[in-house]
Amino acid sequence: MTPIKVQSVTDFQLKKESGQKITMVTCYDSWSAKLLDASPIDALLIGDSLAMVQHGHKTTLPANLAMMALHCEAVVRGAPHQFLVGDLPFMSYRKSFESNVSAAETLMRTGVHAVKLEGADGNIELIKHLVQSGIPIMGHIGLTPQSIYQMGGFRVQGKNPKAAEHLKNQALALEDAGCFSIVLECVPSTLAQAVTQSLSIPTIGIGAGANTDGQILVLHDLLGFNQEFQPKFVRHYLNGAELFQKAIESYVRDTHEGHFPSEKESYK
Ligand code: KIV
Repeated sequence: MTPIKVQSVTDFQLKKESGQKITMVTCYDSWSAKLLDASPIDALLIGDSLAMVQHGHKTTLPANLAMMALHCEAVVRGAPHQFLVGDLPFMSYRKSFESNVSAAETLMRTGVHAVKLEGADGNIELIKHLVQSGIPIMGHIGLTPQSIYQMGGFRVQGKNPKAAEHLKNQALALEDAGCFSIVLECVPSTLAQAVTQSLSIPTIGIGAGANTDGQILVLHDLLGFNQEFQPKFVRHYLNGAELFQKAIESYVRDTHEGHFPSEKESYK
C-alpha cells in the first residue's frame, strides 16, 4: 500500500480508512519547522503547550492569541510543505460568539490549515459554525490542559464508567459537529480504542495507548530536551539535553583552548 503523507485535511480521513497511522508533533518556531518540513511527519501542531515549553510557564493558561499567532506565523514560514494546526488558547473561544469566531479567524490568517480547541461541552455550536465557514477543526478531549484547575491536576481522565461514557459522548458530539479529527489525551488505552472504533474520523492519541489512529508528542519531549518531564507515555528518541550540553561544553573548551576558530574558519 502506498504510504499517504498528509497534505490536506482530507488525507486524515484517508489514512484512517486505509489503516495508516497518523504522526504529529508539536512545533513552535521556524528553525525546528524547517527541520520537520524535511521529515516524514504527517502534520505539526502549534500547541498552546508552547506557554510551558517555550515561555517557561507552569501551565498552558498564560498562552494568549497574540502569542499563538506569532508562533503560528514562525512555523508557517519554516514549514511551507507541512499540514499545520494552530491551537486556540485558554478562553479565546469561550467569550462572545463573535469574539470566538474572530479568534479562530486570527489563527487561520497566519497561514495554518486548521485550528484545534479543547473540550466539547459548550463548544459544539461554535465548531459547527467554524466548519461551515471553511475552517477545519481538530477536537481535543480527555485531559484538556486548559481545564487543569477544574480537573485537579495533570491526571488520566475517563477512569470510571461515568467519565468514560461522558468522553465517548463528547467524541461523538465533536464528530457530529464536523471535526476532522480528535486528540485523545491521557485516557486509558481500552477507552481510547473504544472511542476510536466508534468514530469515522481519526483519533490522535497522546498518553492514550497504541489503538488510536495516530500519535502526537511534544517535540521537546520526544527529543529528550526536558529531562525533568518523564511521564509514562513519553519515549525519548534522542538524548537531546545531554547532546546539547556536550556541544556547548565542546564549544566553550575549544574557545578557551584556542582551537576555535581554526585557520579554515577565519577570513584571510
Ligand atoms: O498544546 C499541545 O501541545 C497539545 C498536544 C499535547 C496535543 O495540545
